[in-house]
Amino acid sequence: MSERETWATRLGFILASVGSAVGLGNIWRFPFQTAENGGAAFVVVYLAAVVIIGLPALLAEFVIGRRAEVNAITAFDRLDRQNWKVIGAIGIFAGFWTLSYYSVIGGWVIRYVYGSATGAYFGSPDGYFGTISTGLDAVALHLLFMTVTVGIVAFGIEDGIEKATKLMVPSIVVLMLGLAVYAVTLPGGGEGYAFFLSPDVSAIVANYRSVVPAAVGQALFSLSLGFSVMITYASYIGDDENLGIDGVSIAAFNTFIGVLAGFVVFPFLFAQGVDVGDAGPGAVFVSVATALGQLPFGRLLGVVFFGVVLIAALSSAISLLEVVVSYVVDNYRFGRTRTAVTLGAVLFVVGVPSAMETAWLGWFDAVAVNLLLPIAALGVVLFVGWVMGGDALDEVRRGTGGAETLSMVWLWSLRTVVLVAVGLTVYLSLLKLSAPPL
Ligand code: PFF
Repeated sequence: MSERETWATRLGFILASVGSAVGLGNIWRFPFQTAENGGAAFVVVYLAAVVIIGLPALLAEFVIGRRAEVNAITAFDRLDRQNWKVIGAIGIFAGFWTLSYYSVIGGWVIRYVYGSATGAYFGSPDGYFGTISTGLDAVALHLLFMTVTVGIVAFGIEDGIEKATKLMVPSIVVLMLGLAVYAVTLPGGGEGYAFFLSPDVSAIVANYRSVVPAAVGQALFSLSLGFSVMITYASYIGDDENLGIDGVSIAAFNTFIGVLAGFVVFPFLFAQGVDVGDAGPGAVFVSVATALGQLPFGRLLGVVFFGVVLIAALSSAISLLEVVVSYVVDNYRFGRTRTAVTLGAVLFVVGVPSAMETAWLGWFDAVAVNLLLPIAALGVVLFVGWVMGGDALDEVRRGTGGAETLSMVWLWSLRTVVLVAVGLTVYLSLLKLSAPPL
């Protein structure tokens, strides 16, 4: 049997994970979730969820992956727990489901790269979004985004992804920082900061039934958890690296980008007088497009900004597709290209309703993030905390040079706080879930 691949460098693994984590979730989803869930109150719960739930859960996925060194379903065979394979299966299904609408938004981004170059949206940023976000154009661009994703996965991505993320991650930071600095100069933007930064604690308490599941779902989604991506990526680590440090770096970086996006979007929205509560999935597109229309070199900046969003979206989309592809290739001896193309075709069809009607996209997103994802994450937490137990502890300690106490804290937090919080999220999400918009 040939030797299994591993990451070329530790940095390669970290950057690939960051590449998966940093995506539309940070730049597109986080701002409008914040807007819909009470502003700063949501941000506080989100940040707490990243630290208290996201980070331990990220480590839990790493532990399964590095221990088993195989794809996310077969991993449970390797760990002699066949019955738990269903967790990997739910995760892979959830990722598949998510990619179908993620690609539609990716299509919008492609359209905005083009629209920036031609200046198409400068006259009417609001109207432009309404026109391009649904209908045949949206379907065509969804197809284009999916084709690019399939193309990269089909041709193999190791070199491509590692190299691309090295360029992509710094450019996102630089551009976002630049836009955030510009946002400070906007008249009327102050209200945006207040909305984003001054939490009303009573609002959290009063609305916890919606704020908590939304914030936990966002924290998990943003860290690419629940969809077996981190299990898969960690299966290529090989060495005795310090998973704790890697996990903290990835989570910190990812959160930084999300918060930075908030610093861009909210001042822009308030300065333009857009009603944030109504902004919905169009928020980031409308607000950034509006601001770009007033900037010198707006077209060029637009191409660069949406170009970077596109790369971020692609490196996340690739990770979602790669998980499914590698499972099929490992187990069914179906060629990589054929698998990627076939899956891409099915994904395209599943995504068509989201491209025709934004209400469908919202529903797909809600089912993925508020339901499938917490269920899969609950399975992972339960499995690592209570089923693997001591083995998980051994695994997380490998490469840490001790860290006895921290590892115990991690295990016990998984067994208690994280388990209860994710369980509660599943329960509250079930209550909140709406019927499909038929
Ligand atoms: N974390 C990605 C984002 O924030 O856009 C989305 C994502 C990618 C979620 C891969 C889950 C995943 F497995």
